[in-house]
Formats: sequence, C-alpha cells, structure tokens
Amino acid sequence: MEDSAPRPGEKKVVAVVGGGLVGALNACFFAKRGFQVEVYETREDIRCANVVRGRSINLALSHRGRQALKHVGMEEKIVSKGIPMNARMIHALSGKQSPIPYGKKGQYILSVDRANLNKELLTEAETYPNTKLNFDHKLQDWSAETGLMTFARPDGSKTQVRADLIVGCDGAFSAVRKQFLRRSRFNYSQTYIPHGYMELTMPPKHGEFAMKPNYLHIWPRNTFMMIALPNLDKTFTCTLFMPFEEFEKITTGDEVIEFFQKYFPDAIPLIGADALKRDYFRLPAQAMVSVKCSPYHIGDKCVLMGDAAHAVVPFYGQGMNAGFEDCIVFDEIMNRFNEDFGAVLPEYTRVRVPDDHAIADLAMYNYVEMRAHVNSKWFIFRKHVDNLLHLLMPKTIIPLYTMVTFTRTRYHVAVERWHWQDKVINRGLLAGAVGAVFGGSYLLVKNPPNINKLAVAAEKIWNKLAALNTP
Ligand SMILES: Cc1cc2nc3c(=O)[nH]c(=O)nc-3n(C[C@H](O)[C@H](O)[C@H](O)COP(=O)(O)OP(=O)(O)OC[C@H]3O[C@@H](n4cnc5c(N)ncnc54)[C@H](O)[C@@H]3O)c2cc1C
Ligand SMILES: *[C@@H]1O[C@H](CO)[C@@H](O)[C@H](O)[C@H]1NC(C)=O
Repeated sequence: MEDSAPRPGEKKVVAVVGGGLVGALNACFFAKRGFQVEVYETREDIRCANVVRGRSINLALSHRGRQALKHVGMEEKIVSKGIPMNARMIHALSGKQSPIPYGKKGQYILSVDRANLNKELLTEAETYPNTKLNFDHKLQDWSAETGLMTFARPDGSKTQVRADLIVGCDGAFSAVRKQFLRRSRFNYSQTYIPHGYMELTMPPKHGEFAMKPNYLHIWPRNTFMMIALPNLDKTFTCTLFMPFEEFEKITTGDEVIEFFQKYFPDAIPLIGADALKRDYFRLPAQAMVSVKCSPYHIGDKCVLMGDAAHAVVPFYGQGMNAGFEDCIVFDEIMNRFNEDFGAVLPEYTRVRVPDDHAIADLAMYNYVEMRAHVNSKWFIFRKHVDNLLHLLMPKTIIPLYTMVTFTRTRYHVAVERWHWQDKVINRGLLAGAVGAVFGGSYLLVKNPPNINKLAVAAEKIWNKLAALNTP
C-alpha cells in the first residue's frame, strides 16, 4: 500500500478522481495553490489513444467557463481554437434560414472540441511539478473515515492510496458519490428524460463549411430538434434530439431518408444521403440524465464537483460551464477560509448547491419549454418584449439567457430576478394593454393604417420570434 499522507511541513495531498474536463481543470486550480495533486482517471491517456469516445464531440463554451480557464491562464489558448457563434441560425421546414443573435453585438459563445479541450487541460495540469496524472486507475471504493481509496488496474490488480482531500470529478455516474448514497441525510435524485441524442457529421463542401460557420444551427421541430456546431476541420457536428421511441421506429436506411425528408429536408444533401443511411445506425441513441444532490461534501474529506455533483440535461449549454464555475467558487472559498478543509467544504455546499440546482432546473425547463411552448403566441410575444426592454433599460431588464450565458450572476439569483422581471413586465403589459385598447382605438379611428403592410411586418417579427426559445 502506498501511503501518501503528508509529512510535517509538506503540503497536503489532494486526489482528484476523474481526469475529464472538470477534473483536469480542477487539478490546475489545486496545483496552483501548491497542493500535492494526484489525478486518477479510469481511461488511458487520451493524448496517446487514437480513438477518443467523448460524450459529445464539441460543446458551447461561454462566460462562466471562460472565467474559470482564465484563472489558470488557459483562456486564450482555448478561445483561439474555438469557433465563435454569434447567433442561432434557425432552419425552417421550408429550408429558410433566419439568424437570431445571442445577446448584444459582440456577445458570442464558442464551439470548442471536447477532446482537444480535455487534452490541453491535462497537459496544463502536468506542467505543475506538484501534479501527477495516474491513468488506467478506476476508483472502486473509498473510505470516508480514512480517506483510503481502492483503484482497479487494467491488469486486474488493485492499488490503495490515501489522500487528505478527495475531489470527486468522475462525472454523472460518479463512483465517489456512491459513498454519499450510503449515508443518512443525503438528498439525491436522478431523472432520465425520454429523449435520446445522436451525432451525425456534416462534411465540408468544396473544402469549405457546408453552412455558415459562425452560428449554432437549429432545426426546431417541436418534439424533435436538430442542432449543429462547427468544428475547426470545417465539418459540423449535428446532434439529433428525439424521443427514444421515435429513434427506434426507424430501422432501415430508407426510413432514415424518409424521416429527414419530412423534418430536415435541407440537411440531406449537406450530410449526404449515403452517409446518413450509414451513420444513423453506427451508434445507438444516447441517454440524457439529470442528477441533483445535496450536500456536496463529507466532513473535511471529500467534495463533489462537475457532473458528479450535478449532471444537467444539455438544453442550456451550461453543464461544463457550471462545472468549471464550481472550481472558481471553491477557490474563492479556499481563500476566505485559509484552505481549512473543515470550514471550506460545508461552506462550498452551502453556497453552491442552490446555484447548481437552479441550473439543473433551468436546463430541464428549457427542455420542456422547447417542445411545449414553441408555438405559444404569448410566449413568443414575451421574448420579444424582454429583448426590447433590455435594449431600453439594459440595467433593469436582463433576459435570463443573457444572465446565464454572458455573466457570472449566481444561477439562483438569475432565476429569482427572472421571476421578478416577469411579474413586473406582465403587470406593465396588462396596464399597457388596457391603455392601448382605449388609446389605440382612438388612433385607429382617426388614421386607419395600411393593414397589409402591418401584417407583413408582424409576420416577419413573428417568424424570428418563433425560434427564440431555442438554446
Ligand atoms: C450531448 C451533450 C452536449 C453537451 N453540450 C454542452 C455544451 O454545449 N456546453 C456545456 O457547458 N456543457 C455541455 N454538456 C455537458 C458537459 O458534457 C458536462 O457537463 C461535462 O463533460 C462535465 O465534465 P466532468 O469532468 O464533470 O465529467 P466528465 O466529462 O463525464 O468526466 C468524468 C471523467 O471521470 C472519469 N471517471 C469516471 N468514473 C471514474 C472512476 N470510477 N475512477 C476514475 N475516473 C473515473 C471518466 O473517464 C471521465 O474522464 C453536454 C453534454 C452532453 C451529453
Ligand atoms: C433535502 O431536501 C429537503 C426538501 O427539499 C430539504 O428541506 C433539506 O434541507 C434537504 N437536505 C439537504 C441536506 O440538502
């Protein structure tokens, strides 16, 4: 048994379990503080492996994630390899495309390659002499009393290691979390949504992107939806979201084409009919799970971060961003409490649980909303009003999407503020409507407008708004 407990005068040992996105970044945070950091990762070193099976090929990086990268000096490196997406590009069934900006001019999110991001973060962690990456180490069990962890090795052997602090960054199916589940007064919920997802590649056309690159392309179709994010190699990764039962209904190549013909006709020539027929059956649709729990810590021994603490459904593009922000929040609390784990861990739970629960709820809300309200007139009208009010009163009315994506407003505060704004705006609209009925009828009688022109303009706005409540 290796015993890595600190000798007097030595920095404590922090074991980061999981060398995924959050684990690798967190290793940098702890290494920067001078801890002796040991990262334990089930997989082999993805920088040497040729097949990397991630969960999604690319993801949207926004403000919170960028701020965390900045803390460890990695922002520029990652941003330079990202592709800015300034707006959503909505694909109507007719093939018509209409852009809808994410925020104000100059605000954008970035499409980044998951594998590259993970590799860069591992390489960065390794630049600290006080960090060691241990691949092919799968955590099996650990003891909350002693901090002793048991790892399984690919050759079937086992290793035991002790650490002062265990940081569980081992994802949605966390092995670290199992110990929490055995304890009393641990709240836990896990929900699988009925939708699955499947990734399809859209190749370059004549050496160029097949569609406009600086957009997150969206094909909203109520119960189904497809999105596409650009990659540096000029491909797009398309992700089809659909209920599992619908995925299962399609069993032959011709049925795939028939289905796309009906819902995403413009995508067929771009992906290629033959590729579509083949790739649809390459991997089964993947499940999506939402996990909420509390507390995030056990004594002064263990803390959960990233998906291990809060797996969220991907409809707000915040899972990784929230996990990265966890690292900053923890770091800030370490400063406040002088790296005293006994004080830091409970405070981290106290501060972070409401925010991570809020983003889990928001992501779920967006998932429901995208299907249920996409055709609600009131809803679309309200999105328009919110954006207009933000333009008029940028400090008072801030759309929820803007707060979540382009600020570090605490997630639960963003939600509270959103509810407050909603009430105020609805009241204002009610008062306005009463006034408008009287005022408007008077004006209409005095100078009747050109109804045709009005209708055309209204329809234009309408079409744009119809797509607003997409990610
Ligand atoms: C389809 C899809 C699209 C998404 N899009 C976005 C997006 O656009 N923007 C965004 O911010 N987020 C997005 N997310 C969420 C994002 O992928 C996750 O939030 C993020 O990967 C969480 O990182 P993590 O390090 O906590 O977990 P993971 O990335 O799951 O990493 C966990 C690591 O732990 C290792 N591990 C697991 N078990 C053990 C063990 N027993 N012992 C040792 N190691 C172990 C795993 O091998 C893995 O390397 C998306 C998710 C999905 C599914
Ligand atoms: C568990 O959930 C209940 C109900 O929401 C809540 O009152 C309680 O404080 C939670 N406990 C923990 C430890 O988070």
